[in-house]
Amino acid sequence: MISTSARIVRYVANFEKLSIPHAPIWLTERELSELSYWKDSSRRDHWLAGRWIAKRLVARSSRTEMLREVEILSRGADGLGKAPSVLVRGHASDCRLSISHSQRAILVGLSGSDARIGVDVASDVPQTSGFRSRWFSDHEAKWIDADVPGRLPIVWALKESIFKACGNGSKWDPRAVEVVAMEADRVHGRVHGIDTEPLSMWVRATSHGAATAVWTERATQEVSLCS
Ligand SMILES: CC(C)(COP(=O)(O)OP(=O)(O)OC[C@H]1O[C@@H](n2cnc3c(N)ncnc32)[C@H](O)[C@@H]1OP(=O)(O)O)[C@@H](O)C(=O)NCCC(=O)NCCS
Repeated sequence: MISTSARIVRYVANFEKLSIPHAPIWLTERELSELSYWKDSSRRDHWLAGRWIAKRLVARSSRTEMLREVEILSRGADGLGKAPSVLVRGHASDCRLSISHSQRAILVGLSGSDARIGVDVASDVPQTSGFRSRWFSDHEAKWIDADVPGRLPIVWALKESIFKACGNGSKWDPRAVEVVAMEADRVHGRVHGIDTEPLSMWVRATSHGAATAVWTERATQEVSLCS
């Protein structure tokens, strides 16, 4: 059954352990066209793994015919990346989807139309003082300073997650996305000087940095982890 109302964050630590069919018969023509944009084999593998996880979450099925009914597109007419849109049997679905890939990890967030969602896996983020002063606000930098290796990747991943959830089609500019404050399971963000809606957050330390997810609305989130 195809579902567009669940709220799920799925983290896969090593996508090479997934049994993704070699033949791309589970992809639509337009998805194959988007895949052909990527020439680098590693980026193609990441793209495929993200689609495999995301399509199965939406379809709630691994059957090829069900997966082909779900189409996920993330490239604008200008050729630039955009927030993924989901079509089910050719019709725009109102579910919201966010995808991130880094190293061998894949993170996918899915929510209904009532909640914005953004996810990010941050790996090997530079920790030099130059990088910190260039891309982080004074407030962020102060918080990071207490534990640079532990906190810097979290703030970076939160910036990207907030951008994906609340960027509204703007261009990615790390300086324009601010982590204003954090509580146990909440983060207050600002994008281009405008406060975002209150965001719930999920944070996980990874071997190379951090994985984060943010979503509007305080709701019970299903998080499943795979190695
Ligand atoms: C968002 C962005 C910073 C993430 O880059 P990254 O950290 O290297 O990569 P991640 O793996 O974490 O995220 C990539 C995914 O983000 C999603 N994405 C891309 N652009 C996005 C955007 N503007 N908003 C939300 N999600 C976006 C895509 O699903 C992409 O995965 P896919 O190509 O496999 O579908 C980068 O993709 C970007 O700069 N996108 C904006 C491009 C742009 O300026 N577009 C014009 C305005 S829409």
